[in-house]
Amino acid sequence: MQDNIGVSAEEFAKRREILLEKMPVGSIALLPAGDLKYRNNDAEYPFRQESHFYYLTGFCEPNALLVLIKETTSFLYVLFCEESEPEKECWIGKRVGIEGAKAILGANSAYSINTLDTIMPDLLAGKQQIFYSLGHAPAWDQRLLGWVNAVRAKVKTGQQAPSVWRELLPLIQEARLIKSPSEIRLMQQAATISAEAHIQLMKACKPKMMEYELEAILLQQCYQKGCRAMAYSSIVGGGNNACTLHYVNNNMPLQSGDLVLVDAAGEYQYYAADITRTFPVNGRFSADQKLIYQLVLKAQVSAIEAVCPGMPWDKLQEIIVRIIVEGLVELGILEGNVDLLIEQRIYRQFYMHGSGHWLGLDVHDAGEYKIQGKSRVLEPGMVLTVEPGIYIDAHAKVDKRWQGIGIRIEDNILVTETGYQVLTSAVPKTIEDIEKLMANKG
Ligand code: GLY
Ligand code: MN
Ligand code: MN
Repeated sequence: MQDNIGVSAEEFAKRREILLEKMPVGSIALLPAGDLKYRNNDAEYPFRQESHFYYLTGFCEPNALLVLIKETTSFLYVLFCEESEPEKECWIGKRVGIEGAKAILGANSAYSINTLDTIMPDLLAGKQQIFYSLGHAPAWDQRLLGWVNAVRAKVKTGQQAPSVWRELLPLIQEARLIKSPSEIRLMQQAATISAEAHIQLMKACKPKMMEYELEAILLQQCYQKGCRAMAYSSIVGGGNNACTLHYVNNNMPLQSGDLVLVDAAGEYQYYAADITRTFPVNGRFSADQKLIYQLVLKAQVSAIEAVCPGMPWDKLQEIIVRIIVEGLVELGILEGNVDLLIEQRIYRQFYMHGSGHWLGLDVHDAGEYKIQGKSRVLEPGMVLTVEPGIYIDAHAKVDKRWQGIGIRIEDNILVTETGYQVLTSAVPKTIEDIEKLMANKG
């Protein structure tokens, strides 16, 4: 059943209206819901609605299709979904059903998902343009082609099938990039819950714990405070494991003297947080770890401070790369001319990813990063991560003292009218604050 406390029915309606305004009269848009996936036999993976579908409907069930029709003077919002069937609901719980699709979700018309093949050709007939993104859900692609062909087959009766195919998803993706006040509230809640989880695991961390024990604290904290899922697979990497960017095994013991990198956050009412902190397993940074940590922190804070409306997004990476390269040269980890090291991307052996990404319903959220080949500029309402790192693998050809140090620091940043707001500022990130927190485990 539904659980959309944060976003009102009016806001979901407004989202559909904004999309329909971009469509010409006589066009139709189709968007399938996410698929229920099976782990084995009849045991399902937890279902999580496809984000574009959720964005436009607030509907959390699988096995559904959204159809939007732009007519001369009005819009039509049609939902196909599962019917309420008491016998089935005894197993799977309450469904919104056909009546609920109209009464709760605001659909103008709603039909059983079992009637698609009879109703869809009628809805498609006479429309000139069809907005649908082929290739994302092959089974739906096939069905849609079948309905279009069913209309084509009736050409002698005067029926016309849509002849212009347009991409639907980019229209929704651009809308998703700018967050509304209620989305920002939910993202702040996801960030606040996740930040508290990081604080609790930092306090609990001690040598010889397993990486998965820290992961368990994260999950417990996030779920206890209302997250129904993590926003992505948690990364808890001690020592050299931090140098594997998407390390998710989380099954090694944590050693005194090592750092541990934790990249994990919850999803709250469909909205993600994405936080990384790196801290010493025994609560005290070594002198060498401090040097690398300060460098990553300086790069991160400098990039965050540059966030404001009008700033090209790729400028953040430029700031980060220059600070990291200058710092690595100063420490003797890289040798040569800073400009050349940047130009030839020699730094990529230690910093091999970008400055971050958009954040929202998805951890790597919707929206283009470049417009006509040029970086897009930041606008109020965008939310992005800033997450530089330095990863010196245990086998890197550098002085032994640096080997096995992997550090990333990641925060979630809202672009405001005048600058920025850090949604994840509650988690300590200076060396002093981290050591203080870990000393006062309380
Ligand atoms: N947690 C995935 C990322 O930081 O992009
Ligand atoms: Mn991230
Ligand atoms: Mn992350």
